[in-house]
Amino acid sequence: MIIASNFKMNHTRRSTKAFLKKLKEVKTNHTIRVFPPATSLFEFDIVGAQNGYPAVNGSFTGEIGLEQIQEFNIDKILIGHSERRNILGEKQEFIAKKFEFYKNENFEITYCIGEPLEIRQKGIDEVIKYLKNELVGIDMNYDKLIIAYEPVWAIGTGVSATIKEIEETHNKLREFIQAPLLYGGSVKLDNISEICEIENVDGVLIGTASWQVENFVRMINQVKG
Ligand code: PGA
Repeated sequence: MIIASNFKMNHTRRSTKAFLKKLKEVKTNHTIRVFPPATSLFEFDIVGAQNGYPAVNGSFTGEIGLEQIQEFNIDKILIGHSERRNILGEKQEFIAKKFEFYKNENFEITYCIGEPLEIRQKGIDEVIKYLKNELVGIDMNYDKLIIAYEPVWAIGTGVSATIKEIEETHNKLREFIQAPLLYGGSVKLDNISEICEIENVDGVLIGTASWQVENFVRMINQVKG
């Protein structure tokens, strides 16, 4: 299983360092990933960047590019998170450009997709149609691709999608996606085992519940395998 933590805009450099130190002591067969903020990047093989501009460097105020990310020997990145799509206004074309850039740099890319509530209410066919639109321009055969399915209405709400909804969506996604499929959206201590046991769920991307290292470690240890 792949168990990933998305810090979002949480943790400082100091607290990230302490978090990673604790995590280093954990013995697990799972693949762990941690995505801290740009100011808290460290050279550690489980660490990835939450964002990166599709350029080595340049006049892009407020962004970080390949040069800044590689200073930490980081070769993993999160692309397409719904918060970047919806709050920061990233369009599919730009997201695909980022994907292409970091793919050419041979990064492991955790690529996020997820529908808003009004689409979910229209049923599974509409959901899949929406998700496919978030995959336009993405090379689905890239061997370092990981897809994270994160319904927007389940992110940070404390209410995850139901087991049935996750199962149905992942089964449909599996029809055209070979890459590992993570689920994200209010994954926590009391639902992680059940979610990880669903067919076609290859791991989880966790926000809120992963920010306390003790809780994250407990979650890692709950998952079988
Ligand atoms: P959440 O966030 O676990 O707080 O719902 C998940 C995510 O946005 O990756």
